[in-house]
Amino acid sequence: MNDTQFARTSPEGRVRSFYEVINRMRDTDYYTELLGYESLHGNYGYWAPGCTSQDQACEAMAEEIAERAGITAGDQVLDAGFGYGGPAIHWARTRKPERVVGLNITPSQTAVARQRVTELALDKVIELRLASATSLPFEDGSFDRVVALESSVHFHTRQKFFREALRVLRPGGTLTTTDPVPREGMKTNRGGITGRLDDWRRKRVIPDANWYPRSVYAERLRQAGFVDVEVEDVTDRVLVPNAAFVRERCATLLKDPRFRSFKHRSGIKVHLKLTALRLATRGYVISTARKPSA
Ligand SMILES: C[S@@+](CC[C@H](N)C(=O)[O-])C[C@H]1O[C@@H](n2cnc3c(N)ncnc32)[C@H](O)[C@@H]1O
Repeated sequence: MNDTQFARTSPEGRVRSFYEVINRMRDTDYYTELLGYESLHGNYGYWAPGCTSQDQACEAMAEEIAERAGITAGDQVLDAGFGYGGPAIHWARTRKPERVVGLNITPSQTAVARQRVTELALDKVIELRLASATSLPFEDGSFDRVVALESSVHFHTRQKFFREALRVLRPGGTLTTTDPVPREGMKTNRGGITGRLDDWRRKRVIPDANWYPRSVYAERLRQAGFVDVEVEDVTDRVLVPNAAFVRERCATLLKDPRFRSFKHRSGIKVHLKLTALRLATRGYVISTARKPSA
């Protein structure tokens, strides 16, 4: 089976080609301006007080996750779905773990992240591997912390990852994740062309098996064997301020002479509509859970 066939048939292949396409778009001014990412982070951001840019909100997200996961000096950390490595680099610099091992299925992101890690002389701390989070190539009890920042929603399936995370954690170790979720009682959008487009796009990169609300998320963690499970709704600190940022940014871009073409203007308008729709139909959670001590 060649790459194109794989991309069409396998859920992981579809996710990987989605991120490969985004990677190709990253080099254009339009895309960078539209999404506002300049650093190596790629999530909605945690809009702590004082954050005025997407990059600042992403740094704040990395910090929030480090705090909730309890990443400290000497820890062995697994970052499942590391993107371009921004969060792993943040933790290596600010928390001094002994080792951060990152996994990603997207080759172009892995190449960019590895280069940056080398430039920063962090190779001894950060090791980045091209591998899937649903089949962890590690022995039982290898890590103190497992983190999946806005990535486990893509895994095929998230439940398989939860079981694997439990296996590779040492007793008492923690799993911390963040993910978008459907609002309670809302599995698919109702009607409307934007709703259908959003559902279609969602299904391409998020398996139905993962598309459940916050209450079910907590149950699934317990079913996998975790204790002290907390799944907090942080929509007001993530999706709500992110949508406000997108609205402001799009209003500016619509006035920008560089983006006057029909293609750019329609792209901006669709982005605005999808952002509004997602805000109405989705929430965002941060989960923390612990592997039993004995
Ligand atoms: C929204 S990005 C988040 C990236 C990063 N955690 C951050 O916050 O900057 C999701 C990431 O998950 C990765 N991913 C998706 N499915 C994966 C899988 N099965 N195993 C490992 N990584 C995966 C994607 O390639 C992408 O890098």
